[in-house]
Amino acid sequence: MVTASRPEQQVKIGPTKLLINNEWVESVSGKRFETINPATGEVICDVAEADAADVDKAVAAARQAFNRGEWRQMSASRRGELLYKLADLIEHNLDELARLETLDNGKPLHDSRGDIELVIACYRYFAGWADKVHGKTIPINGPYFCYTRHEPVGVVGQIIPWNFPLLMQAWKLSPALATGNTVVMKTAEQTPLSALRIGELIIEAGFPPGVVNILSGYGPTAGAAIARHMDIDKVAFTGSTEVGHLIMEAAAKSNLKRVTLELGGKSPNIVFADADLDKAIEGAHDALFFNQGQCCVAGSRLFVEERCYDEFVAKSVERAKNRVVGDPFDPKTEQGPQVDKDQFDKVMGYIEVGMREGAQMLCGGNRVGDKGFFIEPTVFTDVRDDMKIAQEEIFGPVMSIIKFKDVDEVIQRANSTMYGLAAGVWTKDITKAHAIANNVRAGTVWVNCFDVFDAAAPFGGFKQSGIGRELGEYGLQQYTEVKTVTIKL
Ligand code: NAI
Ligand code: MG
Repeated sequence: MVTASRPEQQVKIGPTKLLINNEWVESVSGKRFETINPATGEVICDVAEADAADVDKAVAAARQAFNRGEWRQMSASRRGELLYKLADLIEHNLDELARLETLDNGKPLHDSRGDIELVIACYRYFAGWADKVHGKTIPINGPYFCYTRHEPVGVVGQIIPWNFPLLMQAWKLSPALATGNTVVMKTAEQTPLSALRIGELIIEAGFPPGVVNILSGYGPTAGAAIARHMDIDKVAFTGSTEVGHLIMEAAAKSNLKRVTLELGGKSPNIVFADADLDKAIEGAHDALFFNQGQCCVAGSRLFVEERCYDEFVAKSVERAKNRVVGDPFDPKTEQGPQVDKDQFDKVMGYIEVGMREGAQMLCGGNRVGDKGFFIEPTVFTDVRDDMKIAQEEIFGPVMSIIKFKDVDEVIQRANSTMYGLAAGVWTKDITKAHAIANNVRAGTVWVNCFDVFDAAAPFGGFKQSGIGRELGEYGLQQYTEVKTVTIKL
C-alpha cells in the first residue's frame, strides 16, 4: 500500500500482520486497530491486534526455536553474521524506513534518518560481540576445574515505546540476539509500522523461524500478557515509570522473570555563568525540544546560574520562537507533531498547570494549526522546584528555566526528584564539571554536550528511572545467565 497525499509523502507501508515463527498471521481474535498519521490526524492503515492468545502463540514459537538448538547452538560468529546482514539490509532500505517512521511517528524526516544511522550502528556493534562473549576459569580450592559459561537467558519478552520506534527495537533486539536468546517483542500501539518492516528484513537476512516474533497491540492486553507469562524468562521494558511498576509486579507474581526497565526522567541540565553561553543556549534548546520533547532524557529542568540568567532566558526564548514547526517531511522542519492526541492533551494540560502554579510563560502555549497534534515551543521561567512542571515528566516541547546560585545548592536541587536518568552540565571549569558528574544521581552525565548516544556506551537509570543498563558491554550482560561448572580432577 502507498499513501500519497503529496509526492514527497509517498510511503510504502509494508506488512500489517503479526510476525510469528517467520510467518505473517492475523490475530487469533481477528481484531485489527488503526494507526494514525499524527501530522494530519488521519488513519494511515490498520494492523493486526495481538492479545494474550497471540502472545501464547509467539512464546510457543520462541520457546521451540530456543529448544531446537538451531539458534542456541549455531556458531556464535554465524549469529553475528546474521546481525551484520540485517544491518546491511536496513542501510540499503534507509530512505524507505525513514519515511515510514516519519509517517507513523511524526518526527522530522532528517531525525528519522539520524535514528536509523544509530540503529545500523547498534546492530553492527552487537554483531561484533556475538563471538566475544565468554566466561572465566576460576582457581577454586581442591582438586577441581571450575569455569563459567555465559548462556542465553532464554525466551525474552520486550516491550517498547513509540518515541524512537526503530531505535528502541534495535537496542532491545541486538543484544538479545547476539547472545542467543529468542524474542517476543510488543511494539507501541501508536507506531507499529516500522518494526514490522524490520520483521520482513529479519526474514530476508535468514534468521531461523521463531527467533524473532513481533506483535502489534496494546499495553494492558498484549503487554500485560508478556509481563505475567510463565514461559518468558526475562522482560525488558522501556516506557513510563508507572507501567514499569506494573511490569515488575507482574514478574514478581508470575515466575520471577528477570526484569530490566528503562523508564522516565526529569533530567537536570545545569548551566554555569562561565560556560560558552551561545553553545549552552543551543545545547539546552536541543536537549529539551529534540524529538518534540518526547525523550526520556529531555533536559526538562534547566538550571541556570543567577549571574547569566537574564541573558540566557532572553536568548533561549528567541531561539524557541524561531524553531520551525510543521510538516515533518519538509527538510526545513525542526519540530513535527506530538505522537497522538493523548500526548497532545497531556502536554497542553501541563502548560495550563504551569500557568496556574504561577510560572511565567514567555512564549508558546498554543496548538499550531487545526489538524494534527502540533504544539508551539513553550518556555516557562520563574519555575520553582516544587511545581508540577518541575517534578513530573511532561514529554513535550515545554522548557522550564530555574534559577540557582552555587554548585552545592544546584546538586542538592538536581537530585530532588524520584528520577535519575540523565544530567547535563555546561561550564569551562573542570572542577564544577566533576562536581556535577560525581554527585548528581543519574545514569548518564553529559558535559558541554547532551543527547550523545553510542551503541558502546551504557545507558540506563538510577532511582525510579530504571533497573539495569542497555547498550555497551553492560547491556550485553543483561541477556545472559552465568553458569558455573565444576569438574572433579
Ligand atoms: P506506556 O508506558 O504506557 O507505554 C510504553 C509501552 O508499554 C507501550 O508499548 C505500551 O503498549 C506498553 N504498556 C502500557 N501499559 C502496559 C501494561 N499494563 N503492561 C505491559 N505493557 C504496557 O507509556 P505511554 O502511555 O505511551 O506514555 C505515557 C508517558 O510515559 C509519556 O507521556 C512519557 O512521560 C512516558 N514515556 C516514557 C518513555 C521513555 O522513553 N522512557 C517512552 C514512552 C512514554
Ligand atoms: Mg500508557
